[in-house]
Amino acid sequence: MNAVNQLRQTFRRDQVFDFLLPRPEFDLPVDVSHGPILYVEGVSVSFDGFKALNDLNLYIDDGELRCIIGPNGAGKTTMMDVITGKTRPDTGSVYFGQRIDLLRQPEHVIARGGIGRKFQKPTVFEALSVFDNLELATASNKSVWYTLTHALTGTQRDRIDEVLELIGLADQRRQLAGALSHGQKQWLEIGMLLMQNPRVLLVDEPVAGMTGEEVEHTAALLTSLAGRHSVIVVEHDMAFVRSIARKVTVLHQGSVLAEGTMDQVQNDPRVIEVYLGE
Ligand SMILES: Nc1ncnc2c1ncn2[C@@H]1O[C@H](COP(=O)(O)OP(=O)(O)OP(=O)(O)O)[C@@H](O)[C@H]1O
Ligand SMILES: [Mg+2]
Repeated sequence: MNAVNQLRQTFRRDQVFDFLLPRPEFDLPVDVSHGPILYVEGVSVSFDGFKALNDLNLYIDDGELRCIIGPNGAGKTTMMDVITGKTRPDTGSVYFGQRIDLLRQPEHVIARGGIGRKFQKPTVFEALSVFDNLELATASNKSVWYTLTHALTGTQRDRIDEVLELIGLADQRRQLAGALSHGQKQWLEIGMLLMQNPRVLLVDEPVAGMTGEEVEHTAALLTSLAGRHSVIVVEHDMAFVRSIARKVTVLHQGSVLAEGTMDQVQNDPRVIEVYLGE
């Protein structure tokens, strides 16, 4: 427990001071009264004159599961970088619900404020147990200081149990994270994000390097999260996308080329030309 507390303090030191700053935008529930939870409008990002995003428009409904596909270099990861505050666009606007202008928020505030992101490489604490990894990720939006100075509450314990079931690692709770398979580490990292109760979850290439069975489990997990969370999945594995897809957005050269069901986009001649027909 001491090691966990120590790690927790290192992990969140920047946020201890940040908590002193008022963030009134995040005190109210996210306003999804118009449907979308994310608005990306007219967003362009240039790297040395090259337009990675070019007047991108994207609307994600509250609770939806959206798949984003597109050729290498289409701007998929850059789009996630913009939503999470890692990259600031040259033009355009990005809103979280009706009120919160994400372009005015620092990256860690966005992460804590309800937009979780899973990178491709799992970043779990290998020397800690599965349970301790989830405990470390426990921090409610408004009580970082409280989390730092108090033991787990019953509610937090229940939430960890709930997440362990959800990610299918209940039997591995005492196992060291370092001993998990590649797929299990990915699920643990998704679990760590869930401990922060994100409204939106961004997942970049979640099934790369997974076995067939792990891919199926990941499909079931991400599908089960939709509804309670809005989930945006970027993936090249078309069989996987087909198995989870409701609405699919195809990015090409930094903007939306097509949007619709998997069948609609797969039969779109422009999509076939730039991507699927390759
Ligand atoms: N920091 C950066 N500096 C310069 N160019 C960049 C930077 N980040 C991305 N790019 C370029 O912007 C374009 C879009 O990259 P991005 O990573 O968003 O594509 P992607 O759709 O995620 O591709 P992939 O499917 O290969 O992951 C690429 O041409 C890439 O080389
Ligand atoms: Mg990418």
